[in-house]
Amino acid sequence: MRIRASLHRDFKISHIDDRLYSAFIEHMGRAIYSGIYEPDHPKADANGFRRDVLELVRDLKIPAIRYPGGNFVSAYRWEDGVGPKDQRPVRLDLAWRSKETNQIGINEFAQWADMADIEMMLAVNLGSRSLEDARNFAEYVIHPSGTYWSDLRRSHGVNKPYDVKMWCLGNEMDGPWQIGHKEAKEYGRLADETAKALKALDSNIETIVCGSSNDQMPTYPDWEREVLEECYENVDYISLHKYFGNSSNDTLNYFAKIEETGRYIQAIGGVIDFVKAKKRARNDVYICFDEWNVWYHRREEDSRRWRSWDWPEAPDLLEEDYNFEDALFVAGLLNEFIRRSDRVRIACIAQLVNVIAPIRAEKSGLAWRQTIYYPYQFASLYGRGIALNVSVDGPTYDCKVADDVSYLDAAAVHDEQAGTVTLFLVNRHLEEAAELDFSLTGFTEARVIEHKVMEGFGLRDTNGPGKPDAVAPRDGTGLGVEDVQVKGKLAPLSYHVLRLDVGRGVMS
Ligand code: AHR
Repeated sequence: MRIRASLHRDFKISHIDDRLYSAFIEHMGRAIYSGIYEPDHPKADANGFRRDVLELVRDLKIPAIRYPGGNFVSAYRWEDGVGPKDQRPVRLDLAWRSKETNQIGINEFAQWADMADIEMMLAVNLGSRSLEDARNFAEYVIHPSGTYWSDLRRSHGVNKPYDVKMWCLGNEMDGPWQIGHKEAKEYGRLADETAKALKALDSNIETIVCGSSNDQMPTYPDWEREVLEECYENVDYISLHKYFGNSSNDTLNYFAKIEETGRYIQAIGGVIDFVKAKKRARNDVYICFDEWNVWYHRREEDSRRWRSWDWPEAPDLLEEDYNFEDALFVAGLLNEFIRRSDRVRIACIAQLVNVIAPIRAEKSGLAWRQTIYYPYQFASLYGRGIALNVSVDGPTYDCKVADDVSYLDAAAVHDEQAGTVTLFLVNRHLEEAAELDFSLTGFTEARVIEHKVMEGFGLRDTNGPGKPDAVAPRDGTGLGVEDVQVKGKLAPLSYHVLRLDVGRGVMS
């Protein structure tokens, strides 16, 4: 199959917010306990954090991390997780029918995030709790000193306040499963007042209001409209969540869920514009896609298990083994975020360790990179700068979720300061290679710096403790540059990251 593609240096979509490559971690399963924290592990540091996991996290250069939930946050009392560890209560976590020991709370997590060099994005409980608790929590976290809550933090050994700008106003409040689930108007009012209180504490705070739990919810997209009508002027982002899978064993349909996601983003963009116009508002609201990932391999089985188990501590939950097909999917989804970066400013892979995660860590054992780690890492490292519009002219397919889906999934990012253009390419064709002819219009030179490829694996191939590097990228061949044309062959079912030096000069 022949594919022509082109970009122009001046045809810009948007400056990409670095936070597009953020992550999410929840007190759930083994994400925190025996994920990032395991005091008895041979690789644990003096504070109990696993150094092997931390190293894998650091290599991802994650800009921000959403914490502590997720469904967990909707019945969480943050005060349980501060102060002397031996006095912290053990509680029942109603979201996942587990026991929460509270050995990790905001101060320990902040310490870990600092070591990992990641900015925190905190969620407040608007399920079982109120504006008052949200305000107290924020005061504990960000206020310097001289008040009850800030001095309480200081008495816990943390003199300097944390610089937390991003605050999530609850989690998935449209979901009937959520503890403290609310109607749209009711939630919108609470979110508005909570956002107002947080911004009164610090005017630099950015608030994220809950959109629908996903685009299949019966109340979607009215939920977004009704919520925004209540709080538009006091929020900066609306959250989107979506999880993906290939339960029907139809690879092309699975990949096309990326176009479905594009429509989801577009629809919410429309709702934002509608409410902005209706309210004659001056401010802009952007999208924070703060939960996305593949979640289907063990979903049904896990759902049966946790609903009936007897309140275990840090149980094995949602420990999905990702395969090569999932890596190709994640690569394409990240491309979609780049293509939609004018709307989507923040996005968080859900989650980071063990629970539907790119990193897995055995209790007392090894930590390894799952297949999806790599596309996430490449996007985070090289997907920063300006997203350029890519036009693709080549064969397409129709399937259940979308028509006219291009076999080539492409995104391009121009880092003007570094003088590089990175192309992220996925050939989704099951059998045919793509003969690619890609013009870099508006550039005067181009030279390949690096070409990484993931190809040649079986769709169901995975990594694991006995084969940590079975599915991993390697140096690519077969793509070259003539003048400012990238030419060459992309094998069927392959993912490519092509980094090009394009110089810093502009065409005269
Ligand atoms: O990430 C797992 C769960 O998925 C989160 O707790 C919840 O917000 C979503 O439904």
